[in-house]
Amino acid sequence: MLEINAVAAAVDPLQVRCGALILNAASARRSNLWQRLNVGLNGRLDALETAGEIPRGQGEVCRLDTPEEGIQAQRLVFVEIGERAGISETNVALSRAFESVARVDAVAVALATLPLALEAGTRSTVEAALLSAYRFDRFRTQPPTLGVSRLSRLLLIGGSDEAAAAAVVVVNATNRARDLQNLPPNHLGPADLAKRATVIADNHPRLSVEIHGEDWLRARGWGAFSAVAQGGAGSAKLIVLRHDAASPSRERPVLGLVGKGITFDTGGLVLKPARGLVGMKFDMSGAAVVLEATAAIAELGLPIDVITVVGAAENLPGAGAYRPDDVITARNGRTIEVRDTDAEGRLVLADCLDYVGACGATHVIDVATLTEAAGIALGDTHAALFGNDQAFSDLVRGAGEATGDRAWQLPLTERHRELLASAVADLVNEPARRLAGASVAARFLQEFVGERPWVHLDIAVVASRSSEQAGTGAPGGTGWGVRLLVEAASQLAAAVS
Ligand code: BES
Ligand code: MN
Ligand code: MN
Repeated sequence: MLEINAVAAAVDPLQVRCGALILNAASARRSNLWQRLNVGLNGRLDALETAGEIPRGQGEVCRLDTPEEGIQAQRLVFVEIGERAGISETNVALSRAFESVARVDAVAVALATLPLALEAGTRSTVEAALLSAYRFDRFRTQPPTLGVSRLSRLLLIGGSDEAAAAAVVVVNATNRARDLQNLPPNHLGPADLAKRATVIADNHPRLSVEIHGEDWLRARGWGAFSAVAQGGAGSAKLIVLRHDAASPSRERPVLGLVGKGITFDTGGLVLKPARGLVGMKFDMSGAAVVLEATAAIAELGLPIDVITVVGAAENLPGAGAYRPDDVITARNGRTIEVRDTDAEGRLVLADCLDYVGACGATHVIDVATLTEAAGIALGDTHAALFGNDQAFSDLVRGAGEATGDRAWQLPLTERHRELLASAVADLVNEPARRLAGASVAARFLQEFVGERPWVHLDIAVVASRSSEQAGTGAPGGTGWGVRLLVEAASQLAAAVS
């Protein structure tokens, strides 16, 4: 457990007793803190600065041991965070600073030196501390020592206890989503996702859950979801998690969250090549993120009703599997010609989106590892965002900017609808021509959302990172989207109350 304490802004950072004091070099240079540090270090700071050893590049970190009397911290950690750094850059830089003192148990941060206001600075620091300490060691029989964080006390000099407490809720939800993502497909199937949703609901009086199996789905005309499920030996589950707010906003927006929960995507009969199969356990990332975000919304007591719908299934080949050339009828009555069984996510989401609307959602956000094309277009800095209502798209994108879960809007047009024309049905699930894959997939989903404001977040590449990938944090699931969704829910509640 990490104990977090805000320390009054008036307290002199040099007098705070701790194992390490993190401060922003860019800001310290401009203030009288620099001179005082230099005196405390008997002139060593100026000497190191002249020698070019104090970081100058954004996100660079340097550690100084401080045996001297005038400074109560045993170590100083200088991290360079420029004035124009946003939340994302600050998060990354602070994570590096925390990683450099992973073996220190009490760490203080001088928040006044960060280029962020009190609340944002508090949030960014708590997130960096807890997200960078995350590890997934459940399947190691040898207890790891290297790189394990010993952080047990965090002192926020000039921070806010309330903002810290809220940040802890959100960051813990993010790390729980990472756990779900990282679980291997032989340990986390659709039923395990459903079990997790049940545990979440049991932990919060304002949450309730319903789980349904394939018979329920088939009997109610969920033809698109059922088609994908039929290769999976009866394992598919529909998960509906509801948050009934104590005091919902007056005009009562109801936020619908929809998550893609493919616990393993082989591609089905259109089997992926060997290289494409590795990492397909992360195809349930959208589900992990919407479920844990809903838990955080309940824990924070946000005044908004939420209906969270997850379609959980495995996409497997086999005797029962759906085929290319099959024509299926979705829950909303549209017929779909299956051309590619690897374009399964949009089929599962189609019925879930239609259902969440029927349940009364006024605003809908879906989160899905839907297309590699989104990652090819945008890389690993931004998820792809699509929407049918610019004000709502702006709200969601803004929530991402404010929390570090960044998204970039891509086009959604009638040309993309034309590409989905079928020779035998209302739609194909994947056109023959491979143009604008992420937009075409989004346009497919739009057929199932009606007129209500809706945003689709394609997180195919930002949902996970490999060990080789640059950046900070443990390899595996990133929990991308939990912070964005909680912030968007909070803003939506505030916008209409
Ligand atoms: N789950 C994949 C998308 C994906 C690919 C996520 C790589 C992460 C990394 C999705 O179901 C899929 O197979 N998409 C296809 C779509 C195509 C068949 C139209 C893709 O992206 O190639
Ligand atoms: Mn697929
Ligand atoms: Mn998939």
